[in-house]
Amino acid sequence: MQPDRASVLAAIAQEVRGCKQCRLHENTTNAVPGAGNPNAEIMFIGEGPGFNEDKQGLPFVGRSGDYLEKLLRLINLRREDVFIGNVVKHRPPENRDPLPDEILACKGFLDRQVEALNPLVIVTLGRFSMARYFPTGKITQIHGQPKFDEQRAYFPLFHPAAVLRNPGLISAMEADFHKLPDLLQEVRSRRAAAQKPPDPPETPDKPVQLSLF
Ligand code: URA
Repeated sequence: MQPDRASVLAAIAQEVRGCKQCRLHENTTNAVPGAGNPNAEIMFIGEGPGFNEDKQGLPFVGRSGDYLEKLLRLINLRREDVFIGNVVKHRPPENRDPLPDEILACKGFLDRQVEALNPLVIVTLGRFSMARYFPTGKITQIHGQPKFDEQRAYFPLFHPAAVLRNPGLISAMEADFHKLPDLLQEVRSRRAAAQKPPDPPETPDKPVQLSLF
């Protein structure tokens, strides 16, 4: 029997807590493997833990997290309904940007979390998670515009911290969030259509006269 999603995610989280594949674990209090509903339809991927996340071992629990929860409430969701992860799972010193080798060292964990959750929509928050799915994208140009593959939609959004620093982005961020329910519905329909057996070939109304030669 396949292990259930919650067990797979718990096993990944346990590995993350012991991870020493890059320098980031060195001066941290807690790893932040990611948290949320194992059956979530939406997975949010941020950049990396900050001060509060490092203290608590949980993603988005500081000011950015409060704002993310407020945005979720706009569409009648709570943090418990979604899964929230990050590109790197230990806090970069002084909240600096994660380095390419650190992102690479953590990539396998994030890949396995995505595979276990199989979410309908992956929402990228900020540059580093956007780069996973939109390597040449510029957030000011592509925010709120989903990209689809056979499995799901990828939905690039501004990072909540960027919106808090720049209130001029609030209305765009809220408008983008309001697109999420329809986007979920779209992916549900696409998945259902992909599972449907093909229609049988049409039978002609009249028998076709076959040539004798
Ligand atoms: N910012 C992030 O990108 N991730 C967190 O978990 C918290 C703040």
